[in-house]
Amino acid sequence: MKVIRTVAELKQQVGAKRAAGCSIGLVPTMGALHAGHISLIDRARSDNDIVVVSVFVNPTQFNNPEDLRTYPRTEEADCEKLTAAGVDYAFIPSVEEVYPEPDTRVFDLGPVAEVMEGPMRPGHFNGVAQIVSKLFAMVEPDKAYFGEKDFQQIAVIRRMVELEGFNIEIIDCPIKRESDGLAMSSRNVRLTAEQRAIAPNIAKTLSESLDYALSHSVQETKQYVIDTINSYPQLEVEYYEIVDGLTMQPIENWADAEVAVGCITVYCGEVRLIDNIKYTNKK
Ligand code: PAF
Repeated sequence: MKVIRTVAELKQQVGAKRAAGCSIGLVPTMGALHAGHISLIDRARSDNDIVVVSVFVNPTQFNNPEDLRTYPRTEEADCEKLTAAGVDYAFIPSVEEVYPEPDTRVFDLGPVAEVMEGPMRPGHFNGVAQIVSKLFAMVEPDKAYFGEKDFQQIAVIRRMVELEGFNIEIIDCPIKRESDGLAMSSRNVRLTAEQRAIAPNIAKTLSESLDYALSHSVQETKQYVIDTINSYPQLEVEYYEIVDGLTMQPIENWADAEVAVGCITVYCGEVRLIDNIKYTNKK
């Protein structure tokens, strides 16, 4: 695997592969890699001739400076994992390389960005659109891979692709979970042992709500999830919304969406965890 730190070298190396007829898959990451990222890379490997993984903690998507400061940075371990996963290029640029001048672009992300994470993390999705659009322009991949844990993020990225006219296929990949159900996340390493033992109750409750939903309304199901999770020590639901899986808009009735998705964020102590579940065949 080759580590690339400049945009010029990235363009030159990947451009040569593209000119030789290779298909290019891009997996954007912020590092602190875990098995969830590796599953995206595996998928990219099987779909493409060349796999590029970017490792960049993007400052413009952090609305909380403390979160940016404490975000785990583990470059050496990441490179070992990327090599083992058979990645061709790891693009690990500096902030100055990506943002030689401030990115002042404001994307018209529309309704998909106006709910849930939108109001909770002002500026976050615009920052995601900035970095992902820059990476897309730098790498020019055929396909790009994103995890469904950040379910709303994928809808935002699809919207950005539409706005910018990128000819890139967005591939969403299923959530990877620990054996006790906790959705894999780079933030999990910040949980204390006690919090780590409690956190799987988020996924457990979401999973139990599938049964509950069979005989209850959307509102009742939302309340069930919120009350159950809040009953555990150290867990505090920030929001739980059941939305149309395409538009991200909250639904009133199960029949309002082809696929309804329950999206949750929960504080486990100081750590903000995110997860979701699909309610299908509810019509
Ligand atoms: O999901 C992430 O890790 C980030 O939001 C992404 C897509 C790599 C952009 O920085």
